[in-house]
Amino acid sequence: MDQITLRRPDDWHLHLRDGAMLRAVAPETARHFARAIIMPNLVPPVVTGDQAAAYRERILAALPDGDFEPLMTLYLTEETDPNDVAAAHASGLVKAVKLYPAGATTNSASGVRDFDKVRPVLEKMAEIGLPLCVHGEVVTHDVDIFDREAVFIDTVLDPLRRATPGLRVVMEHITTKQGADYARAGGDDLGATITTHHLVINRNAILVGGIKPHYYCLPVAKREEHRLALRAAATSGDASFFLGTDSAPHVDPLKENACGCAGCFTATNTMSILAEVFEQEGALDRLEAFTSLNGPRFYGLPVNEGTLTLTKGDPVTYPAKIETEDGAVTVFDPMMPLHWRVD
Ligand code: NCD
Ligand code: ZN
Repeated sequence: MDQITLRRPDDWHLHLRDGAMLRAVAPETARHFARAIIMPNLVPPVVTGDQAAAYRERILAALPDGDFEPLMTLYLTEETDPNDVAAAHASGLVKAVKLYPAGATTNSASGVRDFDKVRPVLEKMAEIGLPLCVHGEVVTHDVDIFDREAVFIDTVLDPLRRATPGLRVVMEHITTKQGADYARAGGDDLGATITTHHLVINRNAILVGGIKPHYYCLPVAKREEHRLALRAAATSGDASFFLGTDSAPHVDPLKENACGCAGCFTATNTMSILAEVFEQEGALDRLEAFTSLNGPRFYGLPVNEGTLTLTKGDPVTYPAKIETEDGAVTVFDPMMPLHWRVD
């Protein structure tokens, strides 16, 4: 097989930022993807329906001739008003609410500390069928960073789901075998996104031969056995799993820094990388399920009408960096030649 045509893909977890960065990175996603779930962790965060509507307009303005639909989310805080969430959902504006445990990742300081305080919002969401996207890591200092996802599942996510029957949950950017196993067993109300980079790198990429800040993201890449479990999940065709790139741009000086920011920028070459990975796994026929079918099914949205064709040939070239008015953003280097070109 040297050519494959898919329904146009969607990205179910994307950071577009704002201002100059938004203008520079939005076209990188819109070139290949029809829709994306837009993360609300701006400074200040996108908390209300009005803020999400205004952010949506800024995204559309950054894509003047774009054929791209931003799917907006609200950032859950302990002050979030269940009625505002319900109204933003009823109007069709908001497709999910994002839960960041306070302190878990970039711009998560306004996230949730006391889960009892958000119970009324979660109950309202269960009632109206609005999904909760979860950054699944505990932040307590006594839990090792490589264990934070597995501990979150046992101590936060599972109790929260049991306490809120009917709540639809997306485990965002899973990085562990435990995450994949829990998502697979969770039934129709549970899904999981997997990033492009977690299918390619394990923690050696960050730490061997010198510290490599462009491979640092959160949740941090784990051991090889976990990468293999994620590859098995993504390429299985199981409807629980769909693509969320978590493409998260930071300018180089903020990555190449004594306290470097978390995030890998994969918008530019994601589809070529995924085709390579799925081919390596003998699963090219299941790429479409992962990128284009399982996500809309979970979110109750139609699949895209358009298509995207990938053709196999000589190694694909792509820019090493995307220039922005704020500085350069390094594109994720998968450390392997990519042979699938998006036509
Ligand atoms: C994201 C970002 O930079 O906003 N960073 C990351 O490493 N993934 C935040 C997030 O999704 O955790
Ligand atoms: Zn993210």
